[in-house]
Amino acid sequence: MSRAELRAIGLVRRYGGLTAVDHVDMSAPPGMITGLIGPNGAGKSTLFSLLTGVEQPDEGRVMLGDRDITKLRPDKRSRLGLVQTFQVPSLFTSMTVRENLLVGVENRRRDYAGGLFGLGIRRNPKYEQVVDDMLASLGLTDLGPAVAGSLSTGALRLAECARALCTHPDVLLLDEPASGLDGAETDRFSQLLRRIADAGVAIVLVDHDVDLVFTVCDQVYAMVGGKVVAQGDPATVRSNATVQSVYLAQGAMT
Ligand SMILES: Nc1ncnc2c1ncn2[C@@H]1O[C@H](COP(=O)(O)OP(=O)(O)OP(=O)(O)O)[C@@H](O)[C@H]1O
Ligand SMILES: [Mg+2]
Repeated sequence: MSRAELRAIGLVRRYGGLTAVDHVDMSAPPGMITGLIGPNGAGKSTLFSLLTGVEQPDEGRVMLGDRDITKLRPDKRSRLGLVQTFQVPSLFTSMTVRENLLVGVENRRRDYAGGLFGLGIRRNPKYEQVVDDMLASLGLTDLGPAVAGSLSTGALRLAECARALCTHPDVLLLDEPASGLDGAETDRFSQLLRRIADAGVAIVLVDHDVDLVFTVCDQVYAMVGGKVVAQGDPATVRSNATVQSVYLAQGAMT
């Protein structure tokens, strides 16, 4: 089952005299991890909000596959397969991770017959097996029995991503998912993102950790002053003169 690509076309968002997002084109294809970097105030969060539907653009369009979703509110977009995770994970804290995923599977938006990781919900009433298979395919079996409220920040982020996948999204939007994670947790998180992308999901990742973005992403967009100043594979963007000067000036990416 092929999934939809997320595209931003000529997006503009102004706040008074300031153009926070200035004619941005971007595409996040299925199966790829697309990173978004830029210094403070570059417009990353504003662009993210335009993609999720929290903000409306002054100009331009947001497309999910062939569908123009520019005018749709966030909840409508998520029902169409554009799902975001939040910095504060939204799991039920008194339930185990496995129970949280069961709720997610039972509430999934589509009764598809063979979707993520080849699991067929319609033909398989055994949701518990579906959840266990999902945890296994994501390499998260150890988290299943843990009560969500007792998890470390890193484990919570992993569980939150797994729960988001229960809705069988086309696109997963992640805002600062690695903040507060230590090195080992960030590594595990990176591996999880790769597995999710390999299952055909388009991932959009905004993070201040440029090393993480350059390591895990297939393509990177660099923004400065609301504009995309570089895009392409990580090596290309990393060696871009504008990107270098911005980040070397900040003391990062040395
Ligand atoms: N609601 C708002 N009203 C007015 N100006 C805003 C608003 N939101 C963002 N801005 C301005 O738009 C510009 C882009 O902000 P944005 O938060 O998108 O940047 P960012 O790249 O996410 O920065 P950071 O790395 O600090 O999170 C900034 O100059 C910011 O002050
Ligand atoms: Mg921001």
